Amino acid sequence: MRVPGSVALVTGGASGLGAGVVRTLADRGGRAVILDLPSSSGEAMADEMGEAVAFVPVDIADAGHVGHAVAAAAEAHGRIDVLVNCAGISSGQRVVSRDGAPNPLDHFRRHIEVNLIGLFDVARHATSAMAGNEPNDEGERGLIVNIASIAGYEGQVGQSAYGSSKAGVIGLTLPMARDLAVWGIRVMAIAPGTMDTPMLATLNEEFIAKLVDDNVFPHRLGMPADVGKLVAHFMENVFLNGEVVRLDAGLRLTSS
Ligand SMILES: NC(=O)c1ccc[n+]([C@@H]2O[C@H](COP(=O)([O-])OP(=O)(O)OC[C@H]3O[C@@H](n4cnc5c(N)ncnc54)[C@H](O)[C@@H]3O)[C@@H](O)[C@H]2O)c1
Repeated sequence: MRVPGSVALVTGGASGLGAGVVRTLADRGGRAVILDLPSSSGEAMADEMGEAVAFVPVDIADAGHVGHAVAAAAEAHGRIDVLVNCAGISSGQRVVSRDGAPNPLDHFRRHIEVNLIGLFDVARHATSAMAGNEPNDEGERGLIVNIASIAGYEGQVGQSAYGSSKAGVIGLTLPMARDLAVWGIRVMAIAPGTMDTPMLATLNEEFIAKLVDDNVFPHRLGMPADVGKLVAHFMENVFLNGEVVRLDAGLRLTSS
């Protein structure tokens, strides 16, 4: 699959890594549809980027609306070739509070609902749209790229909810690829390390500096364009399938 002329549906495309994917693909001649919250800056970004980028507002955890939103996204440029699932939330909460009382269950549930169930819901609707594509010379109809996290392998203190949701994303990569092989749709995942986005900005500077210091090389934050470049490579390399690629400068998270 070539980037020029392809259409990518990017959840969470209004910010951070998703916005990086949208910009990288558009720079290389692709088109995109941003699927993000109504309160996001998706509309402004689509206006700024012109015809190549459209915006469809939706909460991916709102099961009653995801199907309509994906259908509207498929109409925007007439097709979907790639789905990049970037939408996600992250906040910390320990299992119990300092005095030993159980912390609220809603925190855990919300992370699973957005990061895992919402991602799967968008994927099943987008797959349905891709299934109608004419296969290319390799028999390929589409590609799904799910954004996991290295916290899905080695989550830190307070990351039970986030780490579990991302471990779920890692776990569904291979079975989803196997399911969708019959349609010529590949499934890949990226497990980013410490990336320079608004999500990271919620952490304190000292903590971020330690994470960057723990990188093997290079000692800098990952950039949204690093993710964009990897997605473009996945599109162009049909032999990649069913795999999670760590994009983390060699970082292995410690417990805190
Ligand atoms: N920043 C990092 O260091 C890092 C590291 C590893 C993984 N990730 C993952 O990368 C993805 C992108 O994160 P980011 O750092 O760009 O964060 P971000 O906060 O900049 O972007 C997340 C986007 O998702 C959207 N979103 C959130 N909940 C949504 C919902 N219910 N429905 C629709 N859209 C929703 C937000 O509006 C936002 O535009 C997330 O899945 C995150 O877990 C980030």
